[in-house]
Parts: sequence; structure tokens; C-alpha cells
Amino acid sequence: MANAAPLVLPQGAPQDTPEAKIGGSISRVDGRAKVTGQARYGSDFYGGLSPAYAALRTSSIALGRITALDETDARRVPGVIEIFTYKNVGDRVKAGKLFGQNGYMGTTIAPLASDKIQHDGQIVAIVVAESLEAARDGAYRLKISYAQEKPSATFGSEGLTTVTAASVSKDAEDPKVGDAASAFDTAPVKIDQFYQTQTQHHNPIELFTTTAAWFDGRLTVWESSQNLYGYQNGLAEQLGIDAAAIRIVSPFIGGAFGSRGSLTQRTALVCHAARVLNRPVKLEASRMDGFTIATYRAETRHHIRLAADRDGKLTSLTHEGWEISSRPDNYKVGGTDASTRLYACPNIDSKVNIVHADRNTPGFMRSPPETPYLFALESAMDELAYALGKDPIELRRINDTQNEPIKGLPYTSRNLMPCFDAAAESFGWSKRSAQPGSMREGDWLIGWGAATTMYPTQMSPAAARVILTPQGNVKVQTAGHEIGNGAYTVIAITAADRLGVPLSKVAVELGDSDLPPAPVAGGSNSTASICNVVAKACDQIRDRLANAAVGAQGSPFYAANPLSFRLANGELIAEGRSEALDKAIARAANGAIEAYAENIPYGSDAENLRALYKGQAKLVGGAKMKDRIEFAFGAHLVEVRVHRRTGEIRAPRLVSAFAAGQIVDLKTAKSQLMGGQIWGIASALHEGTEIDRRAARYTTIDLAEYLIPVNADVQEIQTILIPETDDKVNPLGIKGIGELGNVGLNAAVANAVFHASGKRVRKLPIRAEDLLDAPALQA
Ligand code: MOS
Repeated sequence: MANAAPLVLPQGAPQDTPEAKIGGSISRVDGRAKVTGQARYGSDFYGGLSPAYAALRTSSIALGRITALDETDARRVPGVIEIFTYKNVGDRVKAGKLFGQNGYMGTTIAPLASDKIQHDGQIVAIVVAESLEAARDGAYRLKISYAQEKPSATFGSEGLTTVTAASVSKDAEDPKVGDAASAFDTAPVKIDQFYQTQTQHHNPIELFTTTAAWFDGRLTVWESSQNLYGYQNGLAEQLGIDAAAIRIVSPFIGGAFGSRGSLTQRTALVCHAARVLNRPVKLEASRMDGFTIATYRAETRHHIRLAADRDGKLTSLTHEGWEISSRPDNYKVGGTDASTRLYACPNIDSKVNIVHADRNTPGFMRSPPETPYLFALESAMDELAYALGKDPIELRRINDTQNEPIKGLPYTSRNLMPCFDAAAESFGWSKRSAQPGSMREGDWLIGWGAATTMYPTQMSPAAARVILTPQGNVKVQTAGHEIGNGAYTVIAITAADRLGVPLSKVAVELGDSDLPPAPVAGGSNSTASICNVVAKACDQIRDRLANAAVGAQGSPFYAANPLSFRLANGELIAEGRSEALDKAIARAANGAIEAYAENIPYGSDAENLRALYKGQAKLVGGAKMKDRIEFAFGAHLVEVRVHRRTGEIRAPRLVSAFAAGQIVDLKTAKSQLMGGQIWGIASALHEGTEIDRRAARYTTIDLAEYLIPVNADVQEIQTILIPETDDKVNPLGIKGIGELGNVGLNAAVANAVFHASGKRVRKLPIRAEDLLDAPALQA
């Protein structure tokens, strides 16, 4: 039964055209399956006909111990089968190691290992019952007493401890060049300010669910994951079994944003329950539980010091960050890799600090480092523009560079200013009047703000299998992840393009750890890593056809006749070839041809390829390369309107332009970037998880209290893609766009709010009450 999990194979796009090419624009191949409800998500699988249902009971204190646990009433609930607590779990499930520290976990706080409570909302019991209702009732009826200690909630709380990232993380680097302090002291124009960003929670629409079933000693887990091999190997460590005995199934993912890149502690606990009960167990955690059993974007603080000469050239840049983490874990956001390499500057200094509080451990959330760190830098750049009396786009032009400033390494390509130029043209930026509060329409103050986005181009080793049948059908298999990014689509396009077959002939299988390994769908690496290895497998098939046709690949005949074939009436036809060659191809294709390809990207090695099979491949690229630097860039221009009497803030117009190498499919790419732009509005004006400082407890734990932009908050959005060729980043020239869209947009909004209102707000989110004392609102 475990092997019978139905995978949905997208069968080609309805608007299928033979000319589906890399760089074209088609609708998603899985679009029909998604909108008709045929796409199966991790939560849709039940592990057989009769799973038992699990419900969580979570801690009502943030710090202390469980002193008493009375299960009497809970066990009386009809249908309750078993209750898992620290008393019967203990070390039967291992905590595992943190992701990024040779582990797979988003937290090392092992909830049922002992009576210890380390954060509010920590799992303290899992009740398993015949029905979801009975499980929930049982969880509610557990009587738990605690010995409570005073927790540290956030910045400003008593009892925080701070360490430098450099002292706890072996790959942490504090980029530094020249003498930033002296250059700052002697400069004529300076900015010296503090900025803060908020806690954010991912809130994917698909809740955090896990279904686990054991069949003949093999464990199958249906759970939406952006890291199948990581989940497989991490669970093996936690459960003390062989990774080969575990299969993770996740063909579609209902939102992730980083929340499903590392394992939460719930998964192994559900697997353990299924093992003990010898029965499939399904957990669907509540929206509220999702705030504390998974990760979130850490709250941060920043100190930025910028100095420039009177022409606007930066002479000194210092960026120090502080990031909230949990008490035991050193999760590092660390965005100075990017913020110190955006502009030319001879004197740079940086430092990152991790601040331990009694919270659950934060983790990856879309552009984890760049979102908060560029908010600070790009806000400060805007302040500098006003201090210099320069246009903010011009200030960026003055400090543009083709070599990063720390080591002087060249960008493989950098088209930041063409992005600003295209965005400015479309936006009508030249009509901007520089004076804050000077643009109005009735009671609305109009502000126009600008900011830069950048995101590292990263790659991982990856593997894929491509199968071509004599009928010309192509199957691509790799354990990649459809997190809403269009993975099925861009992979299908790549195979169709490289094999010269129509898109409707290509089926892509993703989302199963039994398939060849693909890396974590994080760091915007998936399209570059997977499309390049799929192209490699397709090329191997073409080579084998050529070899069968004309002998060795190196033969003069082959060199003079690069193989090109197409499909007609189900037959493989070589183009521009002799009849003899056609026969040879028919011979080679008499039975399926299969190619299994592995790719090691530039800057990586065989050891990292082996790590891929353990779900631990490291991403290379970005600022980590020895001889060059790889980033994608973009420009955001935003119009905000601030109501003169109420301080209400709207962001009715966004124009962003991006240069991100080869775009595989224009339509999915624009959607992806547009989603990022919208999230930028959220980051600036809506989102923020509030915490009760005394109890260290989140208070905005549902989608009514946790604000996100809705249709009325989003009006006109333009997403412009600047053509960019970069042969160096990888053979297909793909940079990756998953996390480029949202970075910096929060700063562009904040800068526009200043331009509208005359008030500089240096914390997110910006709300009406922040503007009540704004100069332009008084006028
Ligand atoms: Mo992204 S936060 O790397 O899933």
C-alpha cells in the first residue's frame, strides 16, 4: 500500500505548443490539476483507509517545567487510543541537529524528551484517537501543571544572552575592508541610525500536517516538504533507522516560504506514534499551533553608519545586526554577506549578533538574510540621498560597481542600473518632486520611494533521470519540490527544449524521496540546479542516439552533423540527415533510452554530490566563490498614499524591474516575482507577529489578527524583466528568482512613506499611528 501513493503526472499544458522553449511564456503544466482539485498535497494522503488521528496539546507557559500530568479525563474520552508525553517518549525520538550545523532540524528543542518547557506553545502531548474530534477533546482534557519561570521575550527583555555569529558558526564571515571607523569620523556627510524588523510567520495555506505509516518495516511519510532527502535522512537519525527504510511523499506543496525546508519536531513524533500503535497516524496541526511548532522570520535590529563625500560617493559603510533566536539554538539570519557587497565603498565593517530569548527557534523565510538586512541598508541609503540633496536613484548610480567591494571580485553579471532605468521610465519617476510632502491629491499625500533588491545566485549538486520511449514520450524524474514556484513547468520546458519534443510528450515526476535526489528548494537554487541537470541528462540521450547512429561522439561525422531530431506521428525523425541515419536512430530508440545524470556545479565538488544523497548538499555561489561573485539584481519603485487626517497608508502602485539571467518561463517567472512584490507590501505595512512581553507568548496567532495584504491593498503592479545573459553562472545561464521579488520592497515603501509624510519610520511594519506626528500630516 505504501508504494501505491498516486503521483499526479502533469500531462502537458492545455495550450501546449510544439515550440515550448526555454525563455518562452506558457501557462503552468500543472495548472489544470491544481485548479480542478486533482493535485494531491502532502495533507491529502491518508496512509490507507483508517488512520488514527493525532492532536497536539501545547504548553501555556514559555519557560519552566511540567510538574504534573493527569491523563485520567483524557483517557476517558471515547475513541482515545494513546497519549504520548515525555513520560513515554523520552529519548526514543532523538532531537537531531540544527540545519546548517550538519543536521536537518529547524529546532533542537525536543518537546517530548523531558519535562522541560523552553518556549510558549511547545508540544507537551500528542493525543491519538479514532477521530480528529476525539483526539482534540482528549488533548483539551489533559490536566497539566507547570512550575513557571520568568521568560525573556524579545529585545529589551531582561535575561537575554548575546553571542556573535562568528563565535558560534564556523562558516560565518563578517565582511570587512579598509578602516570604516576613521573614514566615518572624517566624512562630510553621514547617516548613523538604528532600524528594526518584525517577527513574521509563514502561514502557508496548507497547514502543518504529517501522515505516517509503516508497512513491512518501511516508513512512508506524507508531508509537504521542500527538502525530501533532508527529511528522509533527518528522520532516520531521529528514529534510529536506515534512511533507505523511509520514503517521503510530497508531490504538491501548499505554500512553504522556507517553513518546510528543515524538519519540525512533530514529524518524528507522529512517525513514532504510528510505529508504537502499528497503525497509520495523521496529524493536522491547527493554524494557531503553526506559530510555535514550526519556524518563523526572526525579529532583528540594525545599526547602520554610512558616510559619503559631497559628490555622493560612499566612503564608509558599517552594518551591525542583532537577531532573536531561541535559548539553545544559534539560528543565524546573517545578511551582511549581501549588504556589504551592494555598493562600491573602500571602507566597510560588519558584525552579526545572535540574541537568545525564550522563544521557539526561528528559521528560513523567503530571502531570510536579505529581507531584513536590505531594509536597513536601503532605508539608510535613502536617508543619505536626502542628506546629500540627491535623487535616490542617482545615489545608487554614483555607487554602482561591477566589482564587489570586499575582495574586488567581479560580478558574473550585474545590471542594477538598467533595472532602475527601465523601472523609472515606466513609473514616470522624472516627474517626482524631491521635497517630502510636496505631492498631493486632495487629502492624500503622495510619496514615491526607491530601493534595490539583490539575491545570491546559488546552486547545488543535483541528480535526475530522463527516459525517452520509442513513441517519443519523455519522463523526467527528480526529487524536486513544487512549492508553487512552477517547478513542474520549468523542468518540462527544459526537457522539451533539449530533446526537441512537444511539451505534451513530457511528464515530470517530483516530490518523492524514492526519485533521484534534488537539493532543498531553498536559496532560490532549484531552477538552476535542476534544469541544468535535466538538460545534462537530455544531452546524454542525444549523445547516445548520435553514437548509435554514427559511432563515437568524437567522430568527424558527429562534429559536422550536430544531431537534431523531432517527433512526427510518434516517430523520432532526424532532421537534415540521410536515410541511413534515420534507421540508426530508430535502432537506438527501439526500447526506452534512459539517462541518469548528476551535476556538480562550478565551485562545488564530489564530496558535496555525496552530501546531496544525505540531504545535506551545500549551496555554492553568491558571495561564497573564490574568484567571482554571483547575484541577481532588481529595482523597486513604489507609490504610497498617506491620508492627511488619519495616517492611513496605501501602496497603490509598484513598478519593479529585475535582471536575473535566463528566465525559463516568462509567465511563471512574473507570477513568482509579483508574489514577492506583494509580500514586500505585507512586510512594510501589514505583517508582524506581536508578542506578549511578560508571557513571551505570540498574540496574533490566526489569519484574522495576522495581517496580510488582500485584494484591496494591491492595485497596480508592474513586473519588468530585463534581458540578461550570464554564461558563467551555469550552462543554462539561470540565476533563480524565487527570493528576488520581495527583498528591498519594504525599504522602497518606507522611503515612499517618508517622501509622502516627511516622517522617517525605521521599524516595520509601518502603521497609521506611526504617522500621526508626521510633518506633512500636521500641515
Ligand atoms: Mo527559501 S526561505 O530559501 O525557502
